[in-house]
This record gives sequence, structure tokens and C-alpha cells, in this order.
Amino acid sequence: MNAIVTGGAGFIGSNLALTLEKQGVRVTIVDDFSGGNFENIKNFRGKVIAQDINQVAWDSLKPVDVIFHEAALTDTTVTDQKKMMSNNVEGFRKILHFALQNRIKLVYASSAGVYGNEPAPQSENGRLNPLNIYAYSKLVGDQIALQAMKASKMLIVGLRYFNVFGLGEKHKGKFASMIYQLAEQMRSGKRPRIFHDGEQMRDHIYVRDAVDANLMAFEAKEGGIFNVGTGKATSFNRVIEILNEVLGANLSPDYFDNPYGFYQNRTQADTAQAERLLGFNAKWSIEEGIREYLTALHDLKSKKAVSIKV
Ligand SMILES: NC(=O)c1ccc[n+]([C@@H]2O[C@H](COP(=O)([O-])OP(=O)(O)OC[C@H]3O[C@@H](n4cnc5c(N)ncnc54)[C@H](O)[C@@H]3O)[C@@H](O)[C@H]2O)c1
Repeated sequence: MNAIVTGGAGFIGSNLALTLEKQGVRVTIVDDFSGGNFENIKNFRGKVIAQDINQVAWDSLKPVDVIFHEAALTDTTVTDQKKMMSNNVEGFRKILHFALQNRIKLVYASSAGVYGNEPAPQSENGRLNPLNIYAYSKLVGDQIALQAMKASKMLIVGLRYFNVFGLGEKHKGKFASMIYQLAEQMRSGKRPRIFHDGEQMRDHIYVRDAVDANLMAFEAKEGGIFNVGTGKATSFNRVIEILNEVLGANLSPDYFDNPYGFYQNRTQADTAQAERLLGFNAKWSIEEGIREYLTALHDLKSKKAVSIKV
């Protein structure tokens, strides 16, 4: 089987590309390295096309059985609307066109950001209320995908990820998950800094589950747009408790006032549709995910330390 993973040097894309490669799939990564990290894919042995999705000669990549489209400008503070829309919408439109012309299955990344501050649990059929240009670009992507689904009998699946965490997100800096940010502070002995009173909740989903959702989407009989979350919301206070347990630390939260006028207090996926139509259920609890993630991060750091000594 031949697969393309766009955004394959990024966080979710690299985890997906490496998993597919392990399963014997011939994978081509398309990533312009505007935001990813080569370190994520240094063990990847497939083809790497270092180009912007808007510039790629897609026909030259045939034959292709499936495209997993993860590439996007993911910095949610970008205010250049032209740049965001050209990258996330027009780039996607080209991929969609290529998939439709060649009857290639397409699984693409949407975002729970399309729900904005709508009350939890957020459902695929509920109100969409994007609050920044990034979320709006994802909403437009969903709209053009839905139109294409209606007009063709092709398998197109959109995945609205909630808060994904796991290995390979370090390059995202302040846009990496809160779990990563807090763990890094605590690993260096600092008290974890969170907004007052720490009871804001997020649906944190481990990256292995996000990869699984992609694999299940590829096997799906029906297309559609689905939430990819655990269906459980966990407060930042609880995340810090888990990190203390896993790191063997005892650091209390350092609360500070939230400078944002608007802040989403609770995200939580309604998972019924993904369960029913994709058969997708998150398997990793937040505790298990954090434990495996931090162990892997620690192993990476100690391997680096060894190679420096040598
Ligand atoms: N990580 C999350 O929690 C989360 C949540 C909701 C949605 N998403 C979506 O999932 C997808 C993957 O997110 P991620 O966290 O891995 O982000 P990421 O920033 O780590 O990866 C995105 C990758 O896309 C590449 N890219 C960007 N524009 C490109 C272009 N024009 N041409 C080629 N490559 C380009 C970047 O270089 C980067 O490697 C994105 O579409 C994102 O919007 C992620």
C-alpha cells in the first residue's frame, strides 16, 4: 500500500508516518519543514518531499492509495489571515482535488477549535464558533470536504482532534500541549504555572490514540467528520497531580491571573458518533499516556547525554 502523510515532520504526522512504516506501508512524507522537526523522522526511511503542499506536483507521486493530510499552520496566534487561509484552506483544496481526480482515500486533520467556546460536550452536529483565523481555516476545510463527500462516493474522513499530547511535540514550543509545558517546568524543579484556579478542563488525548483514529478512518466504510477525543475532561490541577506521581515530585501549582478576556473553560468530546461510525474509542487513559510519554522523554534525554559523552 502507498500512503502520503502531509505534515509528516510534525507532531501527529511523524507519529503516524512511523507507525504506518512499521506496518509495512510505503510512506511518502510531504512537509515543507516550516514547522516540524527533522528529529521526529530521523528513523523514517521512506521518501521525504520537502515542499509546500501548494507547490507539490501531486500527480508525480502516483500511485497513491491513501492520503493522511496533517500539514497545517498550527500557530493559533497567527493573525495574518491571508497566510493562514492560503496555507490551510487552499493547500487542502489542492489535495482534495488530487484525491477526487484519482479516487484516493483521504483522511484529514480538522480541529476541536471549530467549536470555540460552545458548551461541553462538543458534538459534531452542534454549533460551530471559530474564535481565531486558525479555527476558521479548519471550519472552511470541513465545509469543502463535506461538499466533496456529497458530490462524490469517495471516502473522505475529517478528524477533529481535541488536545493531543505525546512524543514529537517539542518543536511546537508554547503551542505544545499543556502536559508537555507543565512536565518540562516540573522536571527542572519549578512549580507548574497555571491560570487561577486550575479547574479549567481539557479533553487530553494521547498521540497513540490520535494515530489509531487515522488508521480506523482509513478502514471506515463511510466518510464523515468525527471528534477525536477521549470523552473525558481533566482539570489542570489533576494533570499536575498525575505529573507529580509520575515524576516522583511534590510541586504545588503556582497560580496566576488569566490575562485573556476569553478562555475556554472546558473541552470535552462527544464521542458517540466516532464510536458508532468509525469504531473509534480512545484506549489510553491520561494517567497511562503521561506515564509512557514521560518515560520516553526521559529515555531520549539520557540517550542524548550518553552520545555527548562519547
Ligand atoms: N496537536 C493537536 O493537539 C491538534 C489539535 C487539533 C488539530 N490539530 C491538527 O492536526 C494536524 C497536525 O498537527 P500537529 O500538532 O502535528 O502540528 P505540527 O505543527 O507539529 O505539524 C504540522 C506540520 O505541517 C507542516 N506544514 C505546515 N504548512 C505546510 C505546507 N504548506 N506544506 C507542507 N507542510 C506544511 C509543518 O512543517 C509541520 O511539520 C494539523 O492540521 C493541526 O491543525 C492538532
